[in-house]
Amino acid sequence: MRTIIATVTARAVLPRSFAKQYPVAARAEGARIWDIDGREYTDLSGSAAVNFIGFGVDAIADAMAAQARQLPFVHSSQFTSEIAERFAAEVLEFAGAAFEGGAVFFTCGGSEAVETALKLARQYQVETGHPDRFEIISRRQAYHGATLGALAVSGNTARRAIYLPMVREFEHIDMPYCYRCAFNCENCGHQYAQELRAAIEHSAGRAAAFIGEPMSGATLGAVAPPSDYWPEIAAICREHDLLLIADEVMTGFGRTGRNFAMEHWNLQPDIIVAGKGIGSGYAPLGAVIASPRVVSALRQGSGTLIHGFTYNAHPVSMAAGSAVLERIRTGDLVKASDSHAGSIGKPFAKALHTMAKHEAVGDVRGLGLLWGVEFVQDRATKKSFPAEMKFSSRVAAAAMKRGVLTYPMQGSIDGKNGDHLLLAPPAVERERLLEALDQLSDAIAEAADHAAR
Ligand SMILES: Cc1ncc(COP(=O)(O)O)c(C=O)c1O
Repeated sequence: MRTIIATVTARAVLPRSFAKQYPVAARAEGARIWDIDGREYTDLSGSAAVNFIGFGVDAIADAMAAQARQLPFVHSSQFTSEIAERFAAEVLEFAGAAFEGGAVFFTCGGSEAVETALKLARQYQVETGHPDRFEIISRRQAYHGATLGALAVSGNTARRAIYLPMVREFEHIDMPYCYRCAFNCENCGHQYAQELRAAIEHSAGRAAAFIGEPMSGATLGAVAPPSDYWPEIAAICREHDLLLIADEVMTGFGRTGRNFAMEHWNLQPDIIVAGKGIGSGYAPLGAVIASPRVVSALRQGSGTLIHGFTYNAHPVSMAAGSAVLERIRTGDLVKASDSHAGSIGKPFAKALHTMAKHEAVGDVRGLGLLWGVEFVQDRATKKSFPAEMKFSSRVAAAAMKRGVLTYPMQGSIDGKNGDHLLLAPPAVERERLLEALDQLSDAIAEAADHAAR
């Protein structure tokens, strides 16, 4: 233990913030993490919407260890592996009938998967005789990853600002946000979707694809669109021969009470991007799930995917992913996160809505086990707290003091102003999660009290 503390003091790991003291995590089980001093944290944010099945599931560790013993690695330019083929078939089945006959490209996480999807969309257009199509239309207030390509299609101002000179930018459109609706919620699903039509027209035949999170993730904080939004977006993409990429890195693998969030709107994208919950934190893992249309364009075209990473389809990650999916199935965890009677999602949502008793809570929104709590200084006008106050970080710090982990974000309104917390717990330990929500309520009261002084 002493060695660990010495290493931490030396700060050999480049930290996210030099201003912050990070506790040193020692072990985890279910929805809880313990640090090396024995302090317990209940994780209401699943780290960053990662842990879905709960930590400490022996079957996952066993599957990974067995795979590491038998075949730790092969390079995808030389071999495929039994475990990768098996897991790909399982993922295609989990994605539904529209993906039967499709194929999966596995990565080490969400950003790599988004990069892959963008390149796949470009290659699809080239293979099908449209070499002029290379632009990817995306949305402001979206987050698709940290690599430069993923950052180019993201709209998260704080995470992009200093890198903008380095990225190639295409059209961004607005994202439905009914709490602060640009169209006063008058036929707003249609109006937001029409922005895509305008962007395509502006791109003058260069648009290759549209990428969006079916339900917004961290940047806007779990906002679901009006019900007619995605069907109309899908129709516009079809009409103009754009591929539709659903970024389900945060929302996929059961998080919103469906296998993929797209199912809430009967959406059938051409490509699904997955990450986070697919490995539930047990292994670095992401996936690009391509529909048969995309795969056959490559197969019948050049026959070569002009893309690859050394570690794609890593066998140990494949073993982890397959065992995680098995756990999702046997534990009926997709249902557990939904709002059926007896689920975790239903009482979680109910308890979360009681947060509205705090004047500082403007909006509570979400689906399944992906929720956003937006804070306001004035409920009537929806005026946000001054950005310098970092209100959501204050709530998160007050919660952390109580042993509760959350995911604070700023910039929900315009990239700078607006505060919210993202909550995305694992679908386990229902009573403990509900107790942690009580503690979160106290934390909100404490932060609001300080802000008012
Ligand atoms: C919707 C979405 N896409 C992509 C990413 C990038 O994933 P990763 O951080 O695993 O690279 C994230 C991460 O938060 C995300 O929320």
